[in-house]
Amino acid sequence: MKTKVQEQFKKHYGEGASVYSSPGRVNLIGEHTDYNLGFVLPGAIDKAIYAAIKPNGGKLCRLYSVDYDQSIEMDLSGDKPKEQWAQYVYGVAKEMEKRGKKVEAFDLVFGGDVPLGAGLSSSAALESTIGFALNDIYGFGFTREELAKIGQMTEHNYVGVRCGIMDQFASLFGEDGKVIRLDCRSLEYKLEPFKPTGCKVVLFDTMVKHSLASSEYNVRRAQCEAGVAVVAKHVKGIESLRDVTMDMLDTYKGEMEDIVYRRCSFVINENQRLLDACSALEKGDYVTMGQKMNGSHEGLSKWYEVSCPELDFLADIGHNTDGVLGARMMGGGFGGCTINLVEEKVFDAYVSDITERYKSKFGKQPRVIDVVISQGAHKII
Ligand code: GLA
Repeated sequence: MKTKVQEQFKKHYGEGASVYSSPGRVNLIGEHTDYNLGFVLPGAIDKAIYAAIKPNGGKLCRLYSVDYDQSIEMDLSGDKPKEQWAQYVYGVAKEMEKRGKKVEAFDLVFGGDVPLGAGLSSSAALESTIGFALNDIYGFGFTREELAKIGQMTEHNYVGVRCGIMDQFASLFGEDGKVIRLDCRSLEYKLEPFKPTGCKVVLFDTMVKHSLASSEYNVRRAQCEAGVAVVAKHVKGIESLRDVTMDMLDTYKGEMEDIVYRRCSFVINENQRLLDACSALEKGDYVTMGQKMNGSHEGLSKWYEVSCPELDFLADIGHNTDGVLGARMMGGGFGGCTINLVEEKVFDAYVSDITERYKSKFGKQPRVIDVVISQGAHKII
């Protein structure tokens, strides 16, 4: 894809482009915890969005999307473009302008191999690539942390998803072979080596695109905020679910809707599962790690209700297969992938079994995605 993006740039806009890439991500555990200022454990992957870019000295930006085979002209002082893929580019540039930088017009060609709508954060990869590239060609001096916030605010203000910071952070801070234990409140992070001996990580894509996800995502976020507001009336210093314990939640349960209680208890338990999983990882205890992943799926499906029949079906096979240490839905939910931690000795049999059973149940083939934990945003040329 890198070569294709370069070739297309030459074809459309000529010589002299710089080329950048920023990847998608997996998340081992800690789902829907980021916007509740808890912990997450993502890693960048070997699938990325590539961008060839060059200032053009004119008034209008010229953009070409390889994946959509579409080109447009875009005026940064005008309205948001109608093409969704271009709104991400526009949003990133506008967020940079809000932070006091003048983004001059540029030519851009981009494309990628992060499967779209599969829960691997193709949109964060795009925001991070564009942010990283503009920052570099214009010498704005934003830090990677600021670029992650710029990507996140692009989602909030130009796409309409009030996401947390996990995806953009992973795309910008990822390193080869390491997962990121990120505290989403302080943004302190620790890179942990992740090379599970005797095991492999594999994703199964349900091929269900999560179209409902954005509106339901915002609903979940609002439900968490409603729970925080109840506890904050009684306990000083409560600003997010990060500050709320199960005891507090149970004490004020009577003052909140049952659904709010269920959402909040999922988040509090998910944070604890992540901390337990991290201690297990430090000891090389992948069995406990896998059990926590299974618990995460159960909570996401039954308490947070962001799964779907296809994801539940895949996770359930994992939970009932010897040698599959952990299986759970990954990302925002309502479709996309499961992530599986599987012993090498059962790997091939598991992949063919799950593929067949999924096909006979839903009449379509799940996509099997191998991932390698890889480097975050960088300049290629
Ligand atoms: C999406 C969002 C993230 C995070 C996950 C769920 O990927 O973009 O910020 O909330 O869902 O963990």
